[in-house]
Amino acid sequence: MNAEIVRKAFLQQFSAPPECTVRAPGRINLIGEHTDYNGGFVLPAAIEQSIWLAAGRRTDGRFAFWAQDLDAFFITENEQVLFQEQHAWVNYLLGVVSEARQEGLVFGGFNLAFGGNVPLGAGLSSSAALETGALFALNTLYCLGLTKMDIVRLAQRAENNFVGMKCGIMDMFASVMGRANAVVRLDCSDLSYQYFPFESPDFSLVLFDSGVKHALVDSAYNTRRMECASGVSVLKKYLPTIASLRDVTLERLEQHKTELSDAVYKRCKYVVSEMKRVEIAGSALQNNEFETLGRLMYQTHDGLDALYEVSIPEINFLVETARQHHATGSRMMGGGFGGCTLNLVKTAEIPVFEAAVSTAYKITWGIDLKIYPVRLADGTHLVEH
Ligand code: GLA
Repeated sequence: MNAEIVRKAFLQQFSAPPECTVRAPGRINLIGEHTDYNGGFVLPAAIEQSIWLAAGRRTDGRFAFWAQDLDAFFITENEQVLFQEQHAWVNYLLGVVSEARQEGLVFGGFNLAFGGNVPLGAGLSSSAALETGALFALNTLYCLGLTKMDIVRLAQRAENNFVGMKCGIMDMFASVMGRANAVVRLDCSDLSYQYFPFESPDFSLVLFDSGVKHALVDSAYNTRRMECASGVSVLKKYLPTIASLRDVTLERLEQHKTELSDAVYKRCKYVVSEMKRVEIAGSALQNNEFETLGRLMYQTHDGLDALYEVSIPEINFLVETARQHHATGSRMMGGGFGGCTLNLVKTAEIPVFEAAVSTAYKITWGIDLKIYPVRLADGTHLVEH
């Protein structure tokens, strides 16, 4: 898939060339999982795997979408946008239109064709790429004057309010603000950020796709989010100055352990510990201490499994096998309940490592392991015609 294929598909569907083409990448997250909606830091990056979107204005106020990879077409009956039970993918695009309107932006209808190579359901944020890409296109077509950060916030609101997934800001931020060969540390409490070069001839990142995506992921995610919020509201009675788990230390949490339910205590303990790990990871990266980074990744995984309880046996197997084969680091990545593990591996060892893990995975689970090399790329941008 590339820009040219999507432009051709646009021409075929809409009998006119597109006015603009956008490339919107997927993302990885080095460390800082489930910290974004708790006011903490995250360390994500945009990756080469992307969605390309070609777009053009319509004069009748309707919204028409062609999904090249799904071979599917959708058009609204008029300028109204209504949630679509039957077509999940359409809601990411209608959500963008709906939130842009809520914002008071004035624009007409448009045609959009898209396709890409961000695997769906693999935890690489194909939905965030679709949303930010559509907003970029809309911004260009109707000269809306949105900044990149406006696009990030609007895309998150589309997902929260229209799609109903109460995600944090990390995925959209990474998709828009990513930079080639760098990870970006975002402070989710004030949205300040800093780039860290991620270039080493000795170490590489590789994704292993478990091929598993459990149903009800979104509702489990929303429950975790509520559990964290309920932890904060209980702790606030004793620590009135806290705004989020960002302001809570492990010592404080332990002092008030008995006030919290077992589940809420475990969620909070994971988040508070993860925030500490992201802090250490930042300085490890600055000093090129990849071994430290790898150790932290394993610790994150253990916390996601035992305390946050969002891992699954297949993913645990991938991480354990990586550990046995001496990967520098390995962990479940993203929201949970399936998707990919992110592995930090000595570059020279990659071929042997990949062969060993995929053989073991096939024997134990009967699943062909999909492997995606990771190259860190620039965030969402217009593609020259
Ligand atoms: C999903 C969400 C993000 C973030 C991660 C977990 O990807 O969309 O906002 O919370 O899970 O770190």
